[in-house]
Amino acid sequence: MSHAVPRPLTLSARGPLRGTVTVPGDKSISHRALMFSALAVGESRIEGLLEGEDVLATAAAMRAMGAQVERGADGVWRVHGVGVGGLLQPIQALDMGNSGTSTRLLMGLVASHPITATFIGDTSLSGRPMGRVIDPLSKMGADFTASPGGKLPLMLRGLCPAIPIEYVLPVASAQVKSAVLLAGLNTPGITRIIEPVPTRDHSERMLRGFGAELTVEDGPNGKIISITGEAELKPQHIIVPGDPSSAGFWMVAASIVPGSEVTIANVCMNPTRTGLIQALKMMGADITEAQPRVVGGEPVADLIVRHAPLRAIEVPAELAPSMIDEYPILFVAAALAEGRTVARGAHELRVKESDRIATMRTALEAIGVTTEEYEDGLAIQGSGGQPLRGNGAIASKLDHRIAMSMAVAGLAASGPITIDDVAPVATSYPDFFATLDNLLG
Ligand code: S3P
Repeated sequence: MSHAVPRPLTLSARGPLRGTVTVPGDKSISHRALMFSALAVGESRIEGLLEGEDVLATAAAMRAMGAQVERGADGVWRVHGVGVGGLLQPIQALDMGNSGTSTRLLMGLVASHPITATFIGDTSLSGRPMGRVIDPLSKMGADFTASPGGKLPLMLRGLCPAIPIEYVLPVASAQVKSAVLLAGLNTPGITRIIEPVPTRDHSERMLRGFGAELTVEDGPNGKIISITGEAELKPQHIIVPGDPSSAGFWMVAASIVPGSEVTIANVCMNPTRTGLIQALKMMGADITEAQPRVVGGEPVADLIVRHAPLRAIEVPAELAPSMIDEYPILFVAAALAEGRTVARGAHELRVKESDRIATMRTALEAIGVTTEEYEDGLAIQGSGGQPLRGNGAIASKLDHRIAMSMAVAGLAASGPITIDDVAPVATSYPDFFATLDNLLG
């Protein structure tokens, strides 16, 4: 799953982007669709699944634990689940590749099954903190032998029956919330999570759709999410909407390259995911939302984005959870804006596929952008629409979103930029560069 051979790429500006793109299926929803289908009794069908390496790692893990997961010639995935409580002991270590979502959510699933699983991953994933899920899942009775610092590789012994807990999320993380919810699926009684800061709610929406007894109430300290185990999930037909995080690259590319107009079809507009659109609109971006509709229980729209002069903003920290994966591409927009953009309150960026504050700072400086680094964010001096200098080498640090963001920056630079390794782009957006070529005509 890890990329032994780096794939460097040199890019130069090639004029405006024009046309229509359909972004791949949402990564968060795709992981959940596979996992929940694998726990339902009977056959679920999934249309529009993201066929990126991260999601394929989840598919492989579900197979290794007994589910039948197959892609039909029609592109529809068919999953025969084992039933909640029915996961089997995997024979080999589960290779999670680069995928934090696969790792943390599957740890939740395994925690309340009577099985033992070893989780391994690539260099990036092996540096990421797992303590945030080890802590609540240990309280539920699971036993962990982790590498120093609570990292991968780690071995997890599930407990069945597990102990229901009430857990206040100490960090705004949908992965931690989902790990506890998934452990709660096979735990007798009610498992409760208090979420002080709202994060993406795809698990809640989809678990309800699968027939789980799950309630969400407003409490004095945030949302109270309760799940009743031991749940019985009914197979579903799921249509995965387009990934707003992938759409973000085209939103910014069209906004910063003069003469561009791009329609991005079928984008998930779940309000827990639309922070980038809000921030870009505050900066003066020209984004029109067309044909709002509901697909697979999620709001969806087509976005029409035209080039527009951008101005610097102070990015509201409250937006952080709804655009946590979009900061790298927002920083690129800021580099072309008029004035100095400041984004703070985004400390979580330090523990993504790379330290996205440090990685983006170094990358932007390498192509002539002035930045200032804070513990919890970045300030960026914009060019006021003038092309960036370019002529720089970018270290993408095994981080797909850094590689794609800097490729977009290259579209608005005078000199070429070289990205050391674009292979990780395949984790979330295998067709990214082919789509870019199409839009450039
Ligand atoms: C995700 C949650 C977020 C996000 C990640 C996907 C999910 O991570 O960054 O790409 O699918 O639940 P955190 O939970 O660590 O914020």
